[in-house]
Amino acid sequence: MNAISLLRPLLAVAALTLATTGTAADVARGKALHDKQCVSCHIKRFGGDGSEMYLRADRLIRDRKALGQRVATCNAMVNAGLFPEDEADIAAYLAQRYYKFAK
Ligand code: HEC
Repeated sequence: MNAISLLRPLLAVAALTLATTGTAADVARGKALHDKQCVSCHIKRFGGDGSEMYLRADRLIRDRKALGQRVATCNAMVNAGLFPEDEADIAAYLAQRYYKFAK
């Protein structure tokens, strides 16, 4: 048995961990979660599809970090029961579709 064959199971576990915790967030999944858990309340406030919440001139969120924090805050506030990876996917979706931060 050589070193590579010893390492192989470890590498498999590492790859799986990366896949499930997701360094690359899943935007499509974020959209689905967002549309289910988040959007109705924003629509109540702004009408339309609720996107005005993210697009209004005096919106609160100015950078990617603040967006991540706000998604976590909203999750906690409404008891949506999202996991951190759910929040990451939603934040990635909102950033890509609406906020389009330079940084
Ligand atoms: C109970 C109603 C409600 C629900 C449900 C809700 N939100 Fe919100 N959300 C608000 C309100 C109200 C504001 C605006 C706060 C303000 O303007 O001071 C807001 C603001 C935000 C903002 C900041 C918008 C900006 O100004 O840039 C983000 C991002 C956001 N919500 C994400 C989410 C996400 C993600 C979820 C789902 C986990 C969610 N919200 C669920 C009521 C809600």
